[in-house]
Amino acid sequence: MAGAPDDSDAQLHPSGRTQFGDYQADGVMSCAKKQRIPPRELAAKVLEHLDLTGIARKVEIAGQGFINIFLDEQWISQKIEEIFIGPKLGLTPVTPERIVIDYSSPNVAKEMHVGHLRSTIIGDAMARTLSFLGHHVIRANHIGDWGTQFGMLIAYLEKIQHHHDLEMALSDLENIYREAKKHYDADEIFAQRARDYVVKLQSGDPYCREIWQKLVDITMTQNHLSYERLKVTLTPEDMMGESLYNDMLPNIVEDLIAKGVAVKDQGSMLVFLEGYQNKMGKPMGVVIQKKDKGYLYVTTDIACVKYRCEILKADRILYYIDSRQNQHLAQVWAIARLAGYVPESVALEHHMFGMMLGKDGKPFKTRTGGTVKLSDLLDEAVERAGKLIREKNPDLNEADFNNLIQSVAIGAVKYADLSKNRTTNYIFDWDRMLSFEGNTAPYIQYAYSRVTSLFKKSGLDEKKIISPVLIQEEKERSLAIRLLQFEEMISTMARDGTPHLMCSYLYDLATQFSTFYESCPMLNAKNKQIRQSRLKLAWLTAKTLKLGLENLGIETVERM
Ligand code: ARG
Repeated sequence: MAGAPDDSDAQLHPSGRTQFGDYQADGVMSCAKKQRIPPRELAAKVLEHLDLTGIARKVEIAGQGFINIFLDEQWISQKIEEIFIGPKLGLTPVTPERIVIDYSSPNVAKEMHVGHLRSTIIGDAMARTLSFLGHHVIRANHIGDWGTQFGMLIAYLEKIQHHHDLEMALSDLENIYREAKKHYDADEIFAQRARDYVVKLQSGDPYCREIWQKLVDITMTQNHLSYERLKVTLTPEDMMGESLYNDMLPNIVEDLIAKGVAVKDQGSMLVFLEGYQNKMGKPMGVVIQKKDKGYLYVTTDIACVKYRCEILKADRILYYIDSRQNQHLAQVWAIARLAGYVPESVALEHHMFGMMLGKDGKPFKTRTGGTVKLSDLLDEAVERAGKLIREKNPDLNEADFNNLIQSVAIGAVKYADLSKNRTTNYIFDWDRMLSFEGNTAPYIQYAYSRVTSLFKKSGLDEKKIISPVLIQEEKERSLAIRLLQFEEMISTMARDGTPHLMCSYLYDLATQFSTFYESCPMLNAKNKQIRQSRLKLAWLTAKTLKLGLENLGIETVERM
């Protein structure tokens, strides 16, 4: 903007009402205030410099100094043509970056619970979207596969003579974990044995390593079944757990000492960070090595971020971890930056999220108060979706029915999570997420299936739609403009990690489509040109909904 202070952007957004045009820029007011000139005067100056020839048919100043922009129908039609013809809906190619995405990250010997669900779902939507845009995405499943708990597990498996035959389910393993912990706390001899095993495991003892490996395998085989059900793109190759960084830890500590970043304090190694104070107001030290020489979660994450920069050559690293670990990450990054492991040019971003709550507003639990297991949750989703779909489609054959309910159930669970602003807690509500009304997956899946069945029933082929789009009715206009906003939506999501904005966009698009569908006849349009134009808009709506859902990791269905 001419003469605008650097910190003012154009603040351009879609207008709330048609009489204010299609877009409205309201940045003039705050600039004018800063420069102490009347806003309308500044707006007039802006218009002198603003050349929207061919894009807008009218630009006007309204109210105190708003700039209203009315897009040119010709231009809209031409842009629609570009997305119709172009690959990937005509998106402008990005400069590819190497982006590491840390997500899912469950712990070994424990079942994945709903707490890991958010990380898995949101992280995967981001991984899909960023790679769709052309970035090189590295999926990093930072599983908790290292630590003192393994000594305890090995000691206990041995005690119950189970260490030879490790054919067990993850749920058994979870019980074993609990029992092992009991023994560890109650029996000092057992605890000592457990600690010895930790040391042995760390030094690569083959016996301990073998049992450890089995525990990892049992856990992750089960978790990968959940990923498959959830259509999550993580593969076993994406596993980069804590154990991967174990060998780096002694050098990291030594290096931090040598660089003066860490200091020895009563036997432990600490880093004092500016800006972190303890309860007494004194600088708080972050422990990176305990007195007993053991390393911590923090130490592993320091090594991990170094590895991601140096070995994986990341340009950007995204962490999908709940908000309670925000301080942990901030400390890890501060230390890694101080030590020069992460150059300024590499972005480190914690895309944190809140908790999943039950309808009562308390952490989501089973009726008996236990943590809800992911697999049980998905079973329930399928069962509930089954009932709904059966009612609506009594004549569907068994195979189609089963496919359909999987897509609807899994889609609903994922969408419920993705559609909420991730920074806050959210209430898990079965009835709402499976509803065919409102901002839900079934609603959008249904809108999509309506278009595909229209094309199928009438034997239409989108390749034969050659006429350009004609913008005559208000409903055509708003649908077309909404279609053109896909690129902006996906770029915002890619930048900020905000799938909920994509969800609202898709929901709005589906809603606009349904009003368009009701008021603008397609097959019975007045003439061939209008018919083709409307079909083109319908087809593009379906394509956008499909692509949008796909990038969120949600399947579309051809009939519903
Ligand atoms: N395993 C951890 C947990 O369940 C999450 C790990 C997140 N990633 C990381 N780099 N710390 O809490």
